[in-house]
Amino acid sequence: MSDDVAVVMIALAWSGGVALVGLVAAWLVRSASLRWQSVTIALTAVLAVVAGVIGTARAMFLSAHDFAVVLWVCLVAGLVAATVALVLGSATARWSRSLAHDARRLGDDGHVESRGAGPAEFRDVSTELTLTSRKLAESRERERRLEESRRELVSWVSHDLRTPLAGMRAMTEALEDGLVDDPARYLSLIRRDVERMVRLVDDLFELSRIHAGVLPLNVEAVALADVVSEAIAGADREARAGRVRLGGQVDPGLVLQADPGGLSRVVTNLVDNAVRHTPADGAVEILGRANSGGIELIVSDGCGGLSGEDLRRVFDVGWQGSSARTPDRDDPHQLGQAGLGLAIVKGIVEAHGGQVTVANHDPGCRFVVLLPDDGGVA
Ligand SMILES: Nc1ncnc2c1ncn2[C@@H]1O[C@H](COP(=O)(O)OP(=O)(O)OP(=O)(O)O)[C@@H](O)[C@H]1O
Ligand SMILES: [Mg+2]
Repeated sequence: MSDDVAVVMIALAWSGGVALVGLVAAWLVRSASLRWQSVTIALTAVLAVVAGVIGTARAMFLSAHDFAVVLWVCLVAGLVAATVALVLGSATARWSRSLAHDARRLGDDGHVESRGAGPAEFRDVSTELTLTSRKLAESRERERRLEESRRELVSWVSHDLRTPLAGMRAMTEALEDGLVDDPARYLSLIRRDVERMVRLVDDLFELSRIHAGVLPLNVEAVALADVVSEAIAGADREARAGRVRLGGQVDPGLVLQADPGGLSRVVTNLVDNAVRHTPADGAVEILGRANSGGIELIVSDGCGGLSGEDLRRVFDVGWQGSSARTPDRDDPHQLGQAGLGLAIVKGIVEAHGGQVTVANHDPGCRFVVLLPDDGGVA
């Protein structure tokens, strides 16, 4: 065996022994601060060198003095390495504490902003915490809005039920007391209130099924032109009464896979709204045409445009714009409106895999429904 190989083997044996002790020490301090783990690594490295030097001292033919010098150099180098490791370990421990602090804040107020300090891995974790905190903030905001709209809905629905009920109670009392000259008119008003409440309860039931995701869809081939013609025929009387021009045009042969009842409800709700909000001598136009990947239905009216808040909230459950919720008994336009129609439209369209949007379009607004021609339920 050559001298070189012998030296390598001796150094390996001595340093390896120290390395084993170092591994045991690292295992013992595995749960201690990062600071002590760095010091353990640095000391193991230096002591492995010292052990290698001691083990091979004889092969180096060093004088006792030179040997002492080498040991002193190793000792000082070891102290310097341990100090540097302590400083770096302390910095790492500080970054790690700051991450723990951020994680705690995420649980408390949910707001964390990445500090951009520390090693790359810590910065990655910090960026992830920031992204998670933003997502949490968004979902808290969504939850707050949902809770607010649920509260609004309960108060609106109780108002919409209380108003006709109070009217019915007053009318039945007057009938009972025989104070009424024209009982037939009272009876027809009571009937109208009952129908209004039945419609409200039906709409609420439909909405709850939509929100629970259990809206039954019986998908079949539906000709869009037929659905539009029916909606126009249904709104014709009200349009004539309000002197609103009502017209539509659907490209020939447009057939889509949809639930016929649901689709008809969508078109009827949009057309009824458009006619009701268009002043005399205005026009409502319905267009149906093929669009890339689906079918587009456009309902334009002459309502004069919606405010920014209305544009944002018309599809919210119970939203009725700035209009008062107390209906005028003699105005048939106001009776039976509960602000649920567009929420139902949105629910049905989305259940078909489509989307509905609204925008102002002189002289009114324009609702656009986009539906996949396979009904989104292949
Ligand atoms: N075509 C339209 N033009 C102008 N405003 C509209 C139009 N459609 C809806 N709106 C506004 O959006 C609100 C909500 O409409 P939505 O159809 O959901 O409820 P509604 O018509 O008031 O009651 P419901 O449909 O439950 O009988 C309306 O009260 C109205 O203020
Ligand atoms: Mg409506």
